[in-house]
Amino acid sequence: MYYLGIDIGSLSCDAVLINEAKEVLSSSVIPTGAKNIEAIARVKKEVFENSGISESDLKAIVSTGYGRNRVEEKLTSVTEITCHARGISETFKGTEVLVDIGGQDSKAILLDEDGKVADFAMNDKCAAGTGRFLEAMARALQVDIEELANLDEGAMKGLTLSSMCTVFAESEVVSLIANGTEINEIVNGMNRAIASRTLSLVKRVKQDINGSKISMSGGVGRNHGVVRALSEALKCEINVPEKPDTIGALGAALIALERS
Ligand SMILES: Nc1ncnc2c1ncn2[C@@H]1O[C@H](COP(=O)(O)OP(=O)(O)OP(=O)(O)O)[C@@H](O)[C@H]1O
Ligand SMILES: [Mg+2]
Repeated sequence: MYYLGIDIGSLSCDAVLINEAKEVLSSSVIPTGAKNIEAIARVKKEVFENSGISESDLKAIVSTGYGRNRVEEKLTSVTEITCHARGISETFKGTEVLVDIGGQDSKAILLDEDGKVADFAMNDKCAAGTGRFLEAMARALQVDIEELANLDEGAMKGLTLSSMCTVFAESEVVSLIANGTEINEIVNGMNRAIASRTLSLVKRVKQDINGSKISMSGGVGRNHGVVRALSEALKCEINVPEKPDTIGALGAALIALERS
């Protein structure tokens, strides 16, 4: 029997299919777009096609993410915080603090010794420090989001963006470009701005992070520049899964198995 986790986020719709032994058989990440139901159908189709498993062999589906109630055939729906925590403690056992930076919010989640959520802090009021902020900056710099992830290389000046508000930061980036500031310095400045904002979120759940095991989930984990800046701000290494945006769906799949 097989178990499916679906995470319908604001930007990406992710699915992970596992077996009884908790092994991942396939995973898929597609844009959520404006039509949740269509995205859910597409991500399911992809995940079954990639694994060669038929949907009739599925025992249970658990959904998560902001669109979690749109999955009609679910066993249950579970919050993103619980699912990301479950997914990361399977991937990096002993994680103490999980940083999840997705499209529209960022969270620091404190885990206990059993990988359960002990506390969390969240920024969901504005785009500052989230994937959407990075997407707006990529647009201002006329680069792809994938390209943006490596553009800070060689930056030396330690430039700081004065505003984290997406609208103000975008116009600041436009003036920096007009002043001839190199792109790597600008990108480094925005990565450091995200890192410092995330550091305050982490401090809200754990004052002393010295020596703590810190992991990251969410699509922004694919942005090496942000991960590097965050690692410098936290003064420690960060464990990033190979597919950070699928951690919520992985957690949902594991919960589907455990609750069936
Ligand atoms: N290949 C990539 N390189 C760099 N950054 C990426 C890449 N893929 C995704 N991202 C970043 O990840 C963000 C989306 O993250 P994610 O898929 O976790 O969002 P989400 O789960 O839909 O959002 P939320 O949980 O806030 O509803 C994008 O805004 C982008 O900044
Ligand atoms: Mg998400």
